[in-house]
Amino acid sequence: MEKKDKKNSVVIFDTTLRDGEQAPGCSMTLNEKLRVAKALKELNVDVIEAGFPAASPGDFDSVSKIAQEIKGPSICALARCNNRDIEMAWEALKEAKKPRIHVFVATSEIHRKHKLKLAKDEIIKTAIENIKFAKSFCKDIEFSPEDASRTELEYLSEVVEEAIMAGATTINIPDTVGYAIPGEFYSVFKYLKDNVKNINSVRLSAHCHDDLGMAVANSLAAVEAGARQIECTINGIGERAGNCSLEEVVMAIKTRNKHFRLETNIKTQKLYHTSRIVSNVTGMHVPRNKAIIGENAFAHEAGIHQHGMLQNQATYEIMRPEDVGLSKSNLVLGKHSGRHAFREKVEQLGFQINSEDKLNDSFKNFKKIADKKKNMYDKDIESIIMNIDSAKFGPWTLKEIKVTSASSSPSSATASINNENNELLKETAKGEGPVAAVFSAIEKITNISLKLKNFEVRGITDGDDAQGEVTVTVEYKGQSYRGQAISTDILESSALAYLEVVNRISRLKNKNNLANTKKTNLANP
Ligand code: KIV
Ligand code: ZN
Repeated sequence: MEKKDKKNSVVIFDTTLRDGEQAPGCSMTLNEKLRVAKALKELNVDVIEAGFPAASPGDFDSVSKIAQEIKGPSICALARCNNRDIEMAWEALKEAKKPRIHVFVATSEIHRKHKLKLAKDEIIKTAIENIKFAKSFCKDIEFSPEDASRTELEYLSEVVEEAIMAGATTINIPDTVGYAIPGEFYSVFKYLKDNVKNINSVRLSAHCHDDLGMAVANSLAAVEAGARQIECTINGIGERAGNCSLEEVVMAIKTRNKHFRLETNIKTQKLYHTSRIVSNVTGMHVPRNKAIIGENAFAHEAGIHQHGMLQNQATYEIMRPEDVGLSKSNLVLGKHSGRHAFREKVEQLGFQINSEDKLNDSFKNFKKIADKKKNMYDKDIESIIMNIDSAKFGPWTLKEIKVTSASSSPSSATASINNENNELLKETAKGEGPVAAVFSAIEKITNISLKLKNFEVRGITDGDDAQGEVTVTVEYKGQSYRGQAISTDILESSALAYLEVVNRISRLKNKNNLANTKKTNLANP
C-alpha cells in the first residue's frame, strides 16, 4: 500500500542500522540487522538506511539482504562521493523495490581545509559529478553536505542548489558534530528556503547528533522551518552521544499535534517493542528515565501525582502508555497458565510466534521460570522471547553452571556449554569471586579471551523474586561489545550475557568479518 505523502507529513528516515551501528559496541551481525529491519518495517518507517556497502563486505551483505527481503519502506545505502562507493551502493541495493542512494561530501571550512584539502568549487564539482553518477542507477538520490551546520550559509546554498540541479531528490542537512542549537538550526533551513531557488522541488531533511543533548530539539526546529524528513535512530543510538531519537521525535510530533500540525506514518504502539529489540540486539540498555520508552517514563511514584492520576489520567500524563506500546495490564500469567494464554500474551506484547518450535521452546522456558517466580510480568515474558531469539544464533549454548564461593578463598566455577556441533564441553576455573570464575570457565571452553570493561546488574521487575538483568561490556581486539541476559539467578544471567558477547564475536570471526567491522574511516572520503 502506498503511504500518504502529504505536505503535512514528515518522512521518518531510520538510520539505526547505519549511523546507529557506528556507535562503539553496537555492531550487529547480518541476522541481527535483519531482525531490526523487520521490526522497523513493522513500525512503518518510511526509509531504512541499511548500511554503507563500501565500508566492509559485512555491510555490503546486510544491505543486499535487507534490499531483497524487506518490502515496504525505501531501502537506502550510504556512499561517499566516488564511483566505487556509488557502484557498490547500487550493487547492494539493486533488488530493492524502492532503492535510494545517499551520497555525501563535507562542506564546512574545517573539513575542506584539514580533511579534504579541496577548494570550495572543487567540492561542488565532486558533488555534481557523483550525484549525476548515482542518478544513472537510481532515481531516488539523497545528498548530504556533511558538517552543514558549520558551513557558511552562502556557500551551503550554492552547494544545495547545484546538488538539486544535478538530480538530488532529498537534501539532508547534517549537524554532524552536534554543535547546533535550535534557533540557529531553524535559521539554516529558513535561509535555504529563502535563498535556494529550486528548494521547493526537493524534500529537506534534518540529521542531528546529540553531543549537546539537542538532537531532538534541533530536528523539530528544522521541521518548523520546513524540513519534511527527519533522520533518527531507535533509542537514539549512534556515534558519541548518539543521534536524534526516533521515539522522542515521533511522539513530540504526535503529542504536540496542535502545535506542529504534522504527522508521521509511524505505528507508535510498536515503539516500545522496537526499542526492546534494538536494545537486545546491541546489548545497549535503555536508561530507566529515558523519555517515551524508559521504564520510569510512565511511572508515578509521588503520592500527589497518584492522587491526581486516580481522578483523571490527564492530570500528570501527556501521553498514554498504550500509545507507545506499553500494555495497561501488567500482572499476567502464573505457573498454571496454559500454552494458549501464553501465546496470546506474547502476541499482545507485539511478538510474532511464527513456528511451533519457537512456541514450544518459549513455553518450556516460561514454565521453568514460573516455577521459581510467583508472578510473571510482561517484562518476564518479553525476556523469554528475546532470549530465545538471540540464543538461536549460537554457536555456543549454555547448559549448566556450578559455582562454589566463600568470602575467605577464591571462587570456583564449572561451565557446561554445547558447541555448534552439539558436543558438550566442560571446564572448571577459579576467579576472584563467583562471576569472575564463571567468565574464566567460559573463556577456557570457547578459547576467546575478553577484557571486561563494565558489569551491571538490575532487577527487571519489582519484588524479591524479580529476574536479574546483567549487561556486560567487554573489549576484544580494540573493539567494544555488549551483551545482555536475564534470569532468575544472577550468576546464570552473568554467564548468559558473557556468552552472548562470545557468540557475537564467534559469529563475526566465523564469517571472517571481524577485520571488516572496523569500518572504513568515514572521515576520509
Ligand atoms: O552525521 C553525518 O554527517 C552523517 C552523514 C553521512 C549524513 O552521518
Ligand atoms: Zn550522522
